[in-house]
Amino acid sequence: MVWKLVEGAAAVLENDMKEFEIDGVGILIARNASGFYAYPALCPHMEAQLAFGTCDGKLITCMQHLWQWEMETGEPVGMAEEALKTYPTKEENGQIYIWFEQEHKYAYMED
Ligand code: FES
Repeated sequence: MVWKLVEGAAAVLENDMKEFEIDGVGILIARNASGFYAYPALCPHMEAQLAFGTCDGKLITCMQHLWQWEMETGEPVGMAEEALKTYPTKEENGQIYIWFEQEHKYAYMED
């Protein structure tokens, strides 16, 4: 079993997002009318915290250089050159869990 509870994530408001930590790893949780979505906390472009960006229920935008992604799939939009990696989520008994086997990393984190 690698479903991990994201303590407090159920309190994220619709069309909003917040950073949490699972086993010392930053996780961004975003929410829209369809549910909850999870990604690495850092932007795929450079080391910026996505939680300082915006989430409008359809798109996530990094405030550093304005790359954008489809919230529900992580697919890049516009000038974004790389997809957001995603973690599966589930809601159970009013709590949010993510499927977390290992940290998703982007190329710049692999050094
Ligand atoms: S660091 Fe996020 S778009 Fe550049």
